[in-house]
Amino acid sequence: MTQNKKLLSWVDDMARMCQPSSIYWCNGSETEYDKMAELLVKNGTFQKLNGKLRPNSYYAKSDPTDVARVEDRTYICSKNREDAGPNNNWHDPAEMKANLTKLFTGSMKGRTMYVIPFSMGPLGSNISHIGIQLTDSPYVVCNMKIMTRMGTEVFKILGDGDFVPCLHSVGYPLADGKADVPWPCNSTKYIVHFPEERSIWSFGSGYGGNALLGKKCFALRIASAMGKEEGWLAEHMLIVGVTSPEGVKKYFAAAFPSASGKTNLAMLTSALPGWKIECVGDDIAWMKFGADGRLYAVNPEAGFFGVAPGTSMHTNKNALLTCKENSIFTNVGLTPDGDVWWEGLTEEKPKKLTDWQGKDWTPESPNPASHPNARFTTPAKQCPVIDPDWENPKGVPISAFIFGGRRAKTVPLVFETFNWQHGVFVGSAVASETTAAAAGAVGQVRRDPFAMLPFCGYNMADYFNHWLRIGKKSSPDKLPKFFNTNWFRKDNNGKFIWPGYGDNVRVLKWIFERVDGKDNFTDSPLGRIPKNGSMDFDGMNITEDVIKELFHIEKEDGIKEADGILEFYNQFGDRLPTELKTELQSMKDRFNKM
Ligand code: OXD
Ligand code: MN
Repeated sequence: MTQNKKLLSWVDDMARMCQPSSIYWCNGSETEYDKMAELLVKNGTFQKLNGKLRPNSYYAKSDPTDVARVEDRTYICSKNREDAGPNNNWHDPAEMKANLTKLFTGSMKGRTMYVIPFSMGPLGSNISHIGIQLTDSPYVVCNMKIMTRMGTEVFKILGDGDFVPCLHSVGYPLADGKADVPWPCNSTKYIVHFPEERSIWSFGSGYGGNALLGKKCFALRIASAMGKEEGWLAEHMLIVGVTSPEGVKKYFAAAFPSASGKTNLAMLTSALPGWKIECVGDDIAWMKFGADGRLYAVNPEAGFFGVAPGTSMHTNKNALLTCKENSIFTNVGLTPDGDVWWEGLTEEKPKKLTDWQGKDWTPESPNPASHPNARFTTPAKQCPVIDPDWENPKGVPISAFIFGGRRAKTVPLVFETFNWQHGVFVGSAVASETTAAAAGAVGQVRRDPFAMLPFCGYNMADYFNHWLRIGKKSSPDKLPKFFNTNWFRKDNNGKFIWPGYGDNVRVLKWIFERVDGKDNFTDSPLGRIPKNGSMDFDGMNITEDVIKELFHIEKEDGIKEADGILEFYNQFGDRLPTELKTELQSMKDRFNKM
């Protein structure tokens, strides 16, 4: 299967430590997937859904304590604490290894250790990289099969080359006849990254980004550190293709904080006749320079691990059509006829369900039927609007970067930055206001630079510097332009004033025209906003007053914003690039002159 010496000896070493009862090398075939799913049904982890309603699909309920990424248990163990930065939990790598070695010793007793070879990005693309995950969870194997290009082919590409070793155990050994449970996990959890040796050790969780190590751990935290060293970008960005009625196509990459509608924008159904949106990726973009000096992006993933609640035929028809078959649903509600349901899927709630914890549920039940972080795992190739070039090994050329956050006021519907350096500044200041759904004060501004705060594998100040350096590697006419959006503006009564979803294409159209150099803007203290009449509101029921409000910029808000950014910057001390402080001062000056 493979002669790769590093791989063979690593598997040997890890098996000696974890002590599984057997080792299974995954080949990535459909037959293997079916067998693994059967095993999961037998173990009680999976329930097969009604084949007539949801062909070849499965339902899983996690342990109620293992439902989301555990950021407080996530570590970047670089040699120097400063290299991890104030944005990461840090621990000395040698001490952490010693601690983890204790936890992993015997952690797979009574279980099979699966060896999963996977490629992040199209097989053989020079933008792609290879990982090998060892796991004792067949649930993880099934999810990795959907989320990555997994299987024997990967060994051919790997040859004697390098890979990112990803070790994972649910931390529930079956020693001395201990019985298994449907969702094994451990109350002690560690999601640990060693950026200098480019490896990942994850213990105790079977859920999502904690356990599917190709996603956040490799494709963002480790890859961002690789990109810094090698001159490329690993970003928390969706990738869309936008085609105009004239048939001209451009690709945009967009960063929004987690659970802010990235999957929805990535598969948007256009409200403007003639404009077409196609999806390359909904969560992560890897970008490298092509010989022509442009940045080319691939989606390193092969599936979508989307938040189910709130997804409907109105909010994201294409996501629903994607997961109509061959999918895994975790922590949603289960209907009596063996299909899935979640809050927001249909206006009318089903009369009776089994909730995500296996209890009877009716519309009168006090708790939601699905967990707020319930997910579907579904193959990207099933998306009705998947881009024809989504697997092109060359990647797709990026023309614009788009940032966004949830802001009730202060930030207009869209603006363009004055240049690359200003773009990096705007990206570094991305923020969202907390909603009533999360604990803590409502309306508090939380900074999430480039939507990468939980995912940057090194000091964020160095990350900003990396972005500044990337901007010097090519000429401005070849580099993408930067934009910032805000779909979440509210009026004085707290009501959203922009409908969002399909109407967001109007903003994409304006961006498209800016990229083409159209003179459709006017300067504001934040950046370039649409010139009067340059945004297409055709066919929309919107008043002039609302349009004005969407672009309203207030001097006091701007100065308060600048103070907030400075406060955020202070944690980085001298490591923060001076260019960003200059940009902040310029912004303040522009507001003071208002
Ligand atoms: C995700 C996240 O799951 O950003 O994509 O949390
Ligand atoms: Mn994400």
